[in-house]
Amino acid sequence: MGPQRATKPGFGAEPRLKMHTFPLLPQQASVQAGQVDAIFFFMVAVTAFFSLLIAGLIVFFAIRYRRRHDDEIGVAIHGSLVLELMWTIIPFFIAMGMFGWGAKVFFDLYRVPAGAMEIFVVGKQWMWKVQHASGQREINELHVPAGRPVRLIMGSEDVIHSFYIPAFRVKADVIPGRYNTLWFQATTPGRYHLFCAEYCGTKHSGMIGSVVVMEPTEYQAWLSGGPTSDSPAATGEKLFTSLACVTCHTGDAASRGPNLAGVFGHEVELQGGGKVVADEAYLRESIVNPQAKVVAGFPPIMPPFQGMVSEEQLLQLIAYLKSLKGPAARPGAPPQQK
Ligand code: CUA
Repeated sequence: MGPQRATKPGFGAEPRLKMHTFPLLPQQASVQAGQVDAIFFFMVAVTAFFSLLIAGLIVFFAIRYRRRHDDEIGVAIHGSLVLELMWTIIPFFIAMGMFGWGAKVFFDLYRVPAGAMEIFVVGKQWMWKVQHASGQREINELHVPAGRPVRLIMGSEDVIHSFYIPAFRVKADVIPGRYNTLWFQATTPGRYHLFCAEYCGTKHSGMIGSVVVMEPTEYQAWLSGGPTSDSPAATGEKLFTSLACVTCHTGDAASRGPNLAGVFGHEVELQGGGKVVADEAYLRESIVNPQAKVVAGFPPIMPPFQGMVSEEQLLQLIAYLKSLKGPAARPGAPPQQK
């Protein structure tokens, strides 16, 4: 999949995207794109209407009510309650309508549908590294199937980047030290621009790539083609051994660390009270800075792995932990609440 990306030398190198025209807006290629554009155009229309109305009235009144003689003095106006109410109530409902509509689109954009397929993305100066659940890796390209919700779990190796797919109308910052997620459902097979939308250093403008939307069957074929590498979960399992995590998180009753089987997505009781849901962010924090939230009943003896594992390895470790579907209550299991 890589070689055809090499730029041909000289004149007329083949354009990777066919730009027959210069469109004002990028193509709509996700289920979200139409919703975002609709509210955008509505707000532009409302703003343009009132701007023109007000500017027009200023000019009209300036001419209509101009002073015609030196001794012409205007009549004092004592206001009109009806008028005041009208220009308060009508804009109020327009603004609340925009707010309600905007909030709905916002929530739709940020609430990931259940069953979305997960893909890991790591941003670093100056490239996007992608790994699919099957193990397939790519750089500055993202292959996804059409018609399926896709959730990107994104981290940064260095500075703040921003993952932006204009044709999907989705963008999210990629921040060092935490995970950010972004979801979309592509509708139309094709190749779309991928940009870094946060200034991140000298070659920020070169931190670009493309998103390739394929028919689901083609995507499956693409996944099985190409160089095979271990799935993130399998690599994570090896790391779990090589980093010696396994010596404390043995999973039996005498274990010095909590049993991690089935922990993902469940509530964990913490030392000193309080609970936390073991999501990706919590697992990440517990690896890089274990003292931040210690599981109740265990001594705070785990060393921090900050700087010892890369963002990619963290994602692989987490993929491994997510794959451990343990029975709910095993001896030595961390206390879990319903
Ligand atoms: Cu990465 Cu700009």
